[in-house]
Amino acid sequence: MKKIATLLAALMLMTAAFAGCGNDTGSSAAGTSSTASESSTTQSSETSQEASTEETSGSGETLVMATNAFFEPYEYYEGDEIVGIDAEIGKAIADKLGMDFEISDMEFDAIIPAIQNGKASIGMAGMTVTPDREKNVSFSQTYATGVQVIIVPEGSDITSADDLEGKKIGVQQGTTGDLYCSDTPENGGFGEDAVTRYSKGSDAVMALLSGKVDCVVIDNEPAKAFVEANEGLKILDTAYVEEEYAIAVAKDNTELLEKVDAALGELKEDGTVQSIIDKYITAE
Ligand code: ARG
Repeated sequence: MKKIATLLAALMLMTAAFAGCGNDTGSSAAGTSSTASESSTTQSSETSQEASTEETSGSGETLVMATNAFFEPYEYYEGDEIVGIDAEIGKAIADKLGMDFEISDMEFDAIIPAIQNGKASIGMAGMTVTPDREKNVSFSQTYATGVQVIIVPEGSDITSADDLEGKKIGVQQGTTGDLYCSDTPENGGFGEDAVTRYSKGSDAVMALLSGKVDCVVIDNEPAKAFVEANEGLKILDTAYVEEEYAIAVAKDNTELLEKVDAALGELKEDGTVQSIIDKYITAE
């Protein structure tokens, strides 16, 4: 386990070192799933394309938040509506900035491209700050943390990350869990062949339930939600490093970054962020 943490730290550095080498979206599997898979949108009749460029009546622009809404408690559907920690913090930021708010749901690895091409103003998706992603977008201050954990069926012979060799690992495409697991063994990963990528975390969990993969590596809070919602699964702790979640903004848009960051800072300071987190995550 300790080995994994060390290797992981090395991986983060490697990721930084290699970040300039051609992968311009900052995710290992980027490009394989395109923005064509985006499904716009909730909470507004406008498309995100229009909303990000047009002024709406009176007060100002729309803050379009790109996300992948199968990641409870950060973003998930309740009926037709996307709710969750990110949805509420995003809305609170928009309110503070006097902007309208809209959520655009898409594949996780389409979020950074959507920010880059102006389809979305911000990305909020329990998104971990990584050196690789920082080449492509700017990040606000952080507002939450996460860690990758392993979901296994009860009774699995996998009892820790050390047992993952030779196992079929399910991940959500383009996430840090994907990056870590699909990396080479020298870097603490298990190699491309060990990993099956799914466009949603929930699809990876379905594959686990039907025995197509032996485990799923995903962030701890969504893991808890999946295990609660499905019988016969449990979570193994890992020694993976703590990840910091932050809001992504286009690299050249320093004005928006500063506004969003200042609003987030105020919402952290006055306790709003914590109360939103507490609403969705009950302390053990
Ligand atoms: N924290 C992980 C990452 O940044 C996973 C995020 C997945 N988020 C989502 N909304 N599906 O790679």
